[in-house]
Amino acid sequence: MSADTQRTLVLIKPDGVQRGLVGAIISRLEARGLKIVAMKMLQMDREMASQHYDVHRQRPFFQGLVEFITTSPIIAVVLEGSNAVELVRRSMGTTDPVQAEPGTIRGDLAVEIGRNLIHGSDSLETAATEISLFFKSEEIPGYTRSVEPWITES
Ligand code: RTP
Ligand code: MG
Repeated sequence: MSADTQRTLVLIKPDGVQRGLVGAIISRLEARGLKIVAMKMLQMDREMASQHYDVHRQRPFFQGLVEFITTSPIIAVVLEGSNAVELVRRSMGTTDPVQAEPGTIRGDLAVEIGRNLIHGSDSLETAATEISLFFKSEEIPGYTRSVEPWITES
């Protein structure tokens, strides 16, 4: 395991599930070398959504965001890998798809901030909190991949 191995939470938001982009989005992150260590479909309730987006509670878009994220099922994924938090954030692209670079998930597949397809933890600390909100430890089984030395040096 590389010294910089991290775990991060990714959500494919309701727009991603409804548009049939679950496979395409996860495939990009998986192909990058990140390892899927947990995954499930669920529909968030208002309480869970409010907790997940607690940092935005005072923002004008908060109610709409909670409304949207609870409207239809999502996919929650825990990804593991070297510098996983930053890798995922950069692969996602900036929050507003208009500004997101082509080649990123939002830059290639989305057009509006309120329909930006994917969530990724923004720091190692929030990753730990968010993973524990979505998964019990026994839902993250842990396994090794023989391909690892072909993805990271150590
Ligand atoms: P996320 O948390 O979903 O991964 O997205 P992010 O870090 O790139 O963006 P963040 O600032 O945490 O905002 C969370 C989500 O709220 C919606 N948003 N709408 N209308 C607006 O001005 C606005 N700003 C943010 C977006 O769906 C964003 O992903
Ligand atoms: Mg965020």
